[in-house]
Amino acid sequence: MIPVVDKPTIQYVVEEAVEAGIEEILIVVSSGKDAIKDHFRTHAELEALLDKKGKTDALECIQALSGLARIQYANQLEMKGLGDAVLCAKEFAGQDPVAILLGDTIIRSKSGQSALQSMVRIHDKHGGSVIALRKMPRSRISQYGVVSGKEFGEGIIEIDHLVEKPLAEKAPSLLAVSARYIVTPRIFEFLENTKPGFGGEIQITDALNALAAEERMFGFQFEGSRLDIGNKLEFIKSNLLMGLERADIRDDLMTFLKELV
Ligand code: G1P
Repeated sequence: MIPVVDKPTIQYVVEEAVEAGIEEILIVVSSGKDAIKDHFRTHAELEALLDKKGKTDALECIQALSGLARIQYANQLEMKGLGDAVLCAKEFAGQDPVAILLGDTIIRSKSGQSALQSMVRIHDKHGGSVIALRKMPRSRISQYGVVSGKEFGEGIIEIDHLVEKPLAEKAPSLLAVSARYIVTPRIFEFLENTKPGFGGEIQITDALNALAAEERMFGFQFEGSRLDIGNKLEFIKSNLLMGLERADIRDDLMTFLKELV
């Protein structure tokens, strides 16, 4: 729920999913995260009040928010890791492929399409699972899931192996898993059989590694920024980057920045 400019991070993530054509969303939360549910629900009384006061802009804004997508929630009972959180979506997914978007990360693509839109296109064309990747310096690679694979063409890599947070000297490449995934429903079979891995947690990377041994998995290296809002420096950079995208504050923000340096 940490806001960037004027919207909570999770809203950017939901909007990114909607832009990529996703209509049904499940948000996995731990208990006590009611603020997220409250943010996306319909606020009938507030809408009536804004309507009465003629505050059309604000009214349209909150109506658009509650009408963004069909959003459901699942509670992760214990914080047993990302893989365990994703497993909470097993019933929701059924026999369909699903996109997984980590709710603490905003992705700004440099191309006309978002990273997720490109990933949906790759999945539609080639099938299998698709993982967003970013090249990282070796000094930071041990903070991520890391893949190995071979060039497939069209800027895509065919992944054959993944490892969660390897030691820098043992990393199979410098390509880091980056907060967006499209997975086939078999991932849930593998997640159910995944034992605790790095940090004693159920890691989605381990289940993906098992899936990659049996099905096609592609890696898409996107051009743009991956903004981890849980990181102080990236949180500040995100506000600047996205503030500069807003026509109503861009000029004043730019003046302020020029005065700083
Ligand atoms: C998670 C994943 C990791 C991935 C990272 C960034 O790690 O386990 O594979 O590279 O997100 O998307 P976390 O940042 O939760 O430790």
